Amino acid sequence: MFFIRENCRVYFAFLLFTGAGILQYHTGLAQQPGIITVKANEIKATIQPTMWGVFFEDINMGADGGIYAELIKNRSFEFSKPMMGWRVLGKPVTEGDFLVLNRQAINTNNPRFLRVTLHNNAKGTLGLNNEGFRKMGIKEKMGYDFSLMYRTSSSNIRLHVELINEAGRNIGGTSVSTSPSGDAWNKISSSFTATATEPGAKLNIWFEGDGVVDIDMVSLFPQDTWKKRPGGMRADMIQMLADMKPGFIRFPGGCIVEGFDLSQRYQWKKTIGPIEERQLIINRWNFEFAHRPTPDYFQTFGLGFFEYFQLAEDVGAEPLPILNAGMACQFNSAEVVPLGQLDPYVQDALDLIEFANGDSTTRWGKVRASLGHPAPFNLKLMGIGNENWGPQYIERLKVFTKAIKDRYPNIKLINSSGTDPNGARFDYLNGELRNMKADIIDEHYYRRPEWFLQNASRYDNYDRKGSQVFAGEYAAQSDKTVSINNRNNWGTAIAEAAFMTGMERNADVVCMASYAPLFAHVDGWQWTPDMIWVDNLNTYGTPNYYVQKMFSLNKGTNVVPMLNNNHPLSGQDSLYASAAIDRNTNELIMKIVNASGKSQSRDIQVEGIKSLNPNATLTILKSDKLDEVNSIAHPANVKPTEQNIKLKGKKITLALAPYSFTIVRVKMS
Ligand code: AHR
Repeated sequence: MFFIRENCRVYFAFLLFTGAGILQYHTGLAQQPGIITVKANEIKATIQPTMWGVFFEDINMGADGGIYAELIKNRSFEFSKPMMGWRVLGKPVTEGDFLVLNRQAINTNNPRFLRVTLHNNAKGTLGLNNEGFRKMGIKEKMGYDFSLMYRTSSSNIRLHVELINEAGRNIGGTSVSTSPSGDAWNKISSSFTATATEPGAKLNIWFEGDGVVDIDMVSLFPQDTWKKRPGGMRADMIQMLADMKPGFIRFPGGCIVEGFDLSQRYQWKKTIGPIEERQLIINRWNFEFAHRPTPDYFQTFGLGFFEYFQLAEDVGAEPLPILNAGMACQFNSAEVVPLGQLDPYVQDALDLIEFANGDSTTRWGKVRASLGHPAPFNLKLMGIGNENWGPQYIERLKVFTKAIKDRYPNIKLINSSGTDPNGARFDYLNGELRNMKADIIDEHYYRRPEWFLQNASRYDNYDRKGSQVFAGEYAAQSDKTVSINNRNNWGTAIAEAAFMTGMERNADVVCMASYAPLFAHVDGWQWTPDMIWVDNLNTYGTPNYYVQKMFSLNKGTNVVPMLNNNHPLSGQDSLYASAAIDRNTNELIMKIVNASGKSQSRDIQVEGIKSLNPNATLTILKSDKLDEVNSIAHPANVKPTEQNIKLKGKKITLALAPYSFTIVRVKMS
């Protein structure tokens, strides 16, 4: 037991173990629970359209092997082990019939290719097999686009492409003929339709003919990509994002921005233009965790900054790129670029703004236009540094800030407050950043569920006039940070919902928030918990996803007070609440979390308006069990349900189920 001082009152707080083994937080009030009052005409804060967004990083096979729909692993033979993912089929006649060659001096971005020597081979005698990222998810009757780059001097080489299922049976394919190209590289493409659905497919390429053929950029994409863009993104995964109507998309991470060392940092200029010229690098999550090694995890950058901007535009979200601050990950090499050599890093930031916003007469605006987007992307936000800390960060940040603000005063900059929401590193950075009058400070919290419950009032006493806050990464951990035992269970999601009522109540301070990480492949993850899980053919939303989605779809435009005995409802009787109005629809939106295991009936009195429409909608997310999870097999164990209720006058009586999150929406007049 311990004491919490909140709004000048002292409450007793108890930490209990529930049957599910999850810590639960209760506060006991000196007063009996009273009527909850909503003052619908007292505007407390504006809720920014950016309030609830998403954080994207290529972790857990989020991009390669995830939303980037390429099915061939190691398509350009650039992994550290050049034949990783590939297997020779049949028996080569001589040593060196399959040779990895390197044209480093001629093509530094994509130096390797495979040379195949044929000895008058018949179809089906010599070939290659690609295993896919975690095999390949193939759908019956779906079209697939196969392509590769080749060069040959022979005139009779044919490639026979076939998808095979787990049993080795052909489930679709095509054949392509090469033509003599001399030293030039040609691209060849062919499409076909799959004859069966298969979660564990692989691709065979059989060579027929005589002579030498060089191959590179071997690729297979489904045709049902997001917006049907060839070489695009996995539509089912992007649809999950689009359904949330996120206010912003933060990209490309995360620690991936920093890199293990500076050579592995994310450099946006290397991620645009023809994909065969985008230089692959190792993914830092390849080797970060000894307990979850992923030796085949690389960043091909087939999905790069242009595609991220386009994605943000597609789903109506503000793009939020985060750039390297001249510092590699401080948990890893902690390499920093000397202050005197920071210019190229700063220039990358300035050029990115021009790339996003400049017209086509500018150098980088012209590049954007040449990629197919003449209109600006209208970038307004940019992050400098991910989880960086210490005076080394502040001194670098000052250089970035001056250069960017001098040239682009309207761009809002997001600055790092480190890895934790408290402690010496946080206090130092928070102080420095507020002295610098930072626009927005990025706070991260990966904490236990009870931390989220205990800290639901975190922002009630923040300075209303200073820097705003971006809760840029957060997730309740059912075990502990980076533990493989973390689960996306209902206990974590309901704690986040409780905390989010506190963010919404303080929308004048917290202008943006995003759960992290976003995606995980069930067979390719390094970090858990994650909001959306996928396998090769399916996706499912965790309870945490539904919490995020409910907040995002019920954002409102302005915060109004929702009070219990004249105090924000933030833990009394394990209830947490916030209210907003939507000026566009003239609705009142109330969010109430019952984090206790008992049902509670509460009256809500709405003041400050003439009347409420008698028809209200309730959206309820609940489970009796805090350890309940969703899964590929059971995606809807915890899923919102909707019901209509009738109101009499301006009093709403709500029966709040145990462990429930309820949103009430009603028209006002
Ligand atoms: O979300 C996973 C990681 O957690 C991010 O890459 C990093 O910023 C944080 O430490």
